[in-house]
Amino acid sequence: MRHLISIEDSLQPMEVMALLDHARQLRDGGVIEPLLADSTIALLFFEPSTRTQVSFDLAARRLGATTVNLSIAHSSTSKGETLTDTLQTLQSMDVDGFVLRHGEVGAPLVAARAVGQRSFIVNAGDGSHAHPTQGLLDAMTIQDHFDDLGALRVVICGDIIHSRVARSDIAVLNQLCVGQLHICGPQALLPETDMALGATRHDDFDEALEDADVVIMLRMQKERMDAASIPETSGYREKFGLTERRLERLKPGCIILHPGPANREVEIDSAVMASAACKMREQVRNGVFLRMAVLAACGASGASD
Ligand code: CP
Repeated sequence: MRHLISIEDSLQPMEVMALLDHARQLRDGGVIEPLLADSTIALLFFEPSTRTQVSFDLAARRLGATTVNLSIAHSSTSKGETLTDTLQTLQSMDVDGFVLRHGEVGAPLVAARAVGQRSFIVNAGDGSHAHPTQGLLDAMTIQDHFDDLGALRVVICGDIIHSRVARSDIAVLNQLCVGQLHICGPQALLPETDMALGATRHDDFDEALEDADVVIMLRMQKERMDAASIPETSGYREKFGLTERRLERLKPGCIILHPGPANREVEIDSAVMASAACKMREQVRNGVFLRMAVLAACGASGASD
């Protein structure tokens, strides 16, 4: 794997499993080798981020790399420089790898074409298309709690249609042969077929939650909706919020994930976030090790063009 663009386009199931194993080994194995010593990784975040940007930065530095956090707002992007020109400019300064978050679907593919094989691109989220490292860290967190993914019922609830996390979660969980995948949300926020990839659709959250082993809650991606289509908050919580009442009815052992950032008392209540079932902090911690594994894999597959 030279570039990580999406789970579907960049990874085979064996490679997914190898990345998850390596991430777990980095987390649990003690000494960490400087696998990216003498490398420079540039973080280009054209959209806001807390978790993804900081965890990639930490991951790269823990592997011995130097990192460059380009402030897009203060960069020459504001003077009209294209993504390709920005990447090639940094590549001339011997940047070995780029972590890219961008609002445009397909920007990481454009970036991969711009840098060729001399540097690598890791997609840190492009529009509503893909967020592959979030999908992988979610799978890692689920594996931490369940031995047999084939026996699981996983429910993803929220604004599925605009969610790059939902797409990447569905893709990685399909590759790992999860037992049952269910998606739930208002009809207008559910995909017809293309991204559902065999997932069963629901617009009744209580029905979807019956017998669930894993519940993944998603926020409404207001930045990708026009104002008229944003559901009213209190009605949304009643129908699709993971409230204390719904928490109490989950089966014992069920875990709750959320990629963050969360909108408390909208899609998930504070009491649920504070409960033992909620593994959001584990997701964030796993994200650092998973991103170390991804950067190491991309860095190791270097070639000159
Ligand atoms: N989950 C996620 O991508 O969070 P950030 O937007 O904070 O990076």
